Amino acid sequence: MRKPHPQDRPGLRDLARTRGLLFGAAVSTADLDSEAYRAALLRECSLISAEYEMKWDAVERVGYGPADALVGFAGAHGLAVHGHTLWWHESVPPPWSGAPRDRFAAAAFDHLGAAVGRYAGRIASWDVVNEPLDLDHGRSGGLRASPFLDAFGPGYVGAAFRAAAEADARAVLVLNEMGLEYDSPDADAKRRAMLDLLERELAAGTPIHALGMQSHIEAGSQPRDHPALAAFLREVAGLGLSVMITEMDVADWRCPRDRRDAMVADAYRRHIGLVLEACPTLAVTTWGLADARTWLSAFRPREDGAPVRPLPLDRRLRRKPAWHAIAAALAATPPCGTLEPDGVHGTEDPPESG
Ligand code: XIL
Repeated sequence: MRKPHPQDRPGLRDLARTRGLLFGAAVSTADLDSEAYRAALLRECSLISAEYEMKWDAVERVGYGPADALVGFAGAHGLAVHGHTLWWHESVPPPWSGAPRDRFAAAAFDHLGAAVGRYAGRIASWDVVNEPLDLDHGRSGGLRASPFLDAFGPGYVGAAFRAAAEADARAVLVLNEMGLEYDSPDADAKRRAMLDLLERELAAGTPIHALGMQSHIEAGSQPRDHPALAAFLREVAGLGLSVMITEMDVADWRCPRDRRDAMVADAYRRHIGLVLEACPTLAVTTWGLADARTWLSAFRPREDGAPVRPLPLDRRLRRKPAWHAIAAALAATPPCGTLEPDGVHGTEDPPESG
């Protein structure tokens, strides 16, 4: 009788399902080239999010082939897909960046309708608008200065969500934002601006279903208790919205080398525990699954040159303290998810690649 391998124990997907949640990771087609990585994804995840392949600039550059490959992989294995992201100021294709407003608006709508329509019924949820706020820009409501704001005015958020709902009435539509998690006066102001934006849009009938909290956190930066974040999330729930943790990773770039795994794990446990406790949560997604493939290697490198360790699995796909911390956070809260435990799956193949 083979001795059970530690990796055989239930995956984070199984623990999440007992809470009515999905657990996922950002994936790129390069990840799927590795059989071991595919196995780890299937062991741990019930949802995948496209790290690059569904962004407007990626689709404009190479078409839908890579995105189709991810959706096909998910459909073949009964995984939900979180579409990332339709309108984001950092993924506007170069030809459109400086286009006249009316041409930009037409192109932006064309892309959104084509992407959502292509995967209608196969993608569980979409980040319809990503990072709409930047209070330093001094625009109305704290909106970020972007080609979308220039082309449509402050109504662009509502326009995007209505177009997405028209293209796929079943998808959960998410407004995704960074930096709402932090403990600072700026983050307090951003949380207030987000609540005002959500209240305005919902009052106007905009079909926003969930708030995406990117949750890119720095180890050791979050307070032991974070009442401001908990209160914010309760207000989000009070608006009738759910929350998704959409891109969590915990940067260890400033941690002592001998304490970083423990500090990273503590950040995962505290943040996920706080969110699950405060608000109906649909999914917890990390921005990558294993340390060998993280954007933080370039974005937040360590001064000592050691490879960063921000994710649940190590470079050899073994479960780290961060994995156990996520498992503990999932186990510690009563069922709180609002998705059917097995989520929304794609089943049939997507149309021929465009
Ligand atoms: C990042 C990717 O992970 C990087 O590899 C890429 O160079 C830039 O984009 N917030 C987001 C994600 O919404 O789309 C970003 O992903 C990380 C920050």
